[in-house]
Amino acid sequence: MNKRQARLFAIGATVISAAVFIGMTIDSHRQFATLTHSDQITPAVIRGKNVWHKNNCINCHTVFGEGAYYAPDLTKITKLRGEAYLKAYLHDPSQFYDEKRHRRLMPKQDLSATDITDLIAFLDWVSNVDNQGWPPRPLLVTGASISPTGPALSVVRPVSGAENPIALGESVFRTSSPACVACHSTTPDVNMAGPSLAGLTARTEKLLASGGYKGSVKTVEGYIRESITHPSAHVLPGPMYSASGVSFMPATFAKDLPSAQIDQLVAYLTSLK
Ligand code: HEC
Ligand code: HEC
Repeated sequence: MNKRQARLFAIGATVISAAVFIGMTIDSHRQFATLTHSDQITPAVIRGKNVWHKNNCINCHTVFGEGAYYAPDLTKITKLRGEAYLKAYLHDPSQFYDEKRHRRLMPKQDLSATDITDLIAFLDWVSNVDNQGWPPRPLLVTGASISPTGPALSVVRPVSGAENPIALGESVFRTSSPACVACHSTTPDVNMAGPSLAGLTARTEKLLASGGYKGSVKTVEGYIRESITHPSAHVLPGPMYSASGVSFMPATFAKDLPSAQIDQLVAYLTSLK
């Protein structure tokens, strides 16, 4: 290649890559309204965004991976936690995490009830933006390893086999929507938004024998099934699990999970001696 050819080649390559870049930028902008559901930006969403900025949530948190990396990413938080939990959490985060165990805390933000409702509307809009699969797994508070597809979280490894209800139940536990693993670990003493389910069977046997259980089921299996389909039938004590007798665990599973999958979950959880 002589000098002239080299120059032409450089100019040509620059022009082509600039054209591709501009084309892709225009194409992205063309899709923004659809991907972000811009028709769903209600006044509450806009007010919530203002509350978000006014309180500098971004100084500690990220959304879409942008912001500070001190605290968890909140892009999908409404899908992972649900409204009841978030309301109580934003009202007083100190009820939920323990400084000794978690080593960092979210300061109380003194948000009004309206601020909180608006923030949740904003975060819910964020969670519905089509990120084309990002983040690939939930980014959460506790260091517990959470992977919807990766190696099991469980200390009790169920016997493998596609037809094994315990193995199938463990898979539902990771993949339901919201995923049980977003709130429950099966490692002893790792309590996230929900209690660790390690030793669930032994704990439930004690509860049923103690007279502390006020519901109508009689068996461990029945209790576990009821916990999934009617979380508020019996709530665990503690301000981080319920408010006014209503469990922070979503009450949507009875409707959203096929009954075969609920059976598999019950088989899996019953195996967590
Ligand atoms: C000074 C830093 C800081 C600020 C400012 C802050 N947070 Fe947090 N936030 C945290 C930390 C740290 C956690 C993780 C909980 C823990 O480990 O104590 C957290 C957790 C959360 C959670 C998740 C709880 C869970 O169980 O998954 C939500 C929701 C949240 N923050 C919302 C907000 C909102 C909304 C704002 C602004 C109004 C905000 N945060 C401002 C530090 C902060
Ligand atoms: C948003 C967080 C969240 C999600 C998601 C969630 N849970 Fe829960 N779960 C909780 C909370 C909080 C409690 C404690 C309050 C109560 O007793 O209902 C709980 C309690 C339970 C209990 C009773 C535990 C005990 O010791 O008595 C079981 C069993 C359970 N959940 C199973 C599941 C299963 C299975 C899934 C997935 C299909 C699931 N949970 C999804 C938050 C969650």
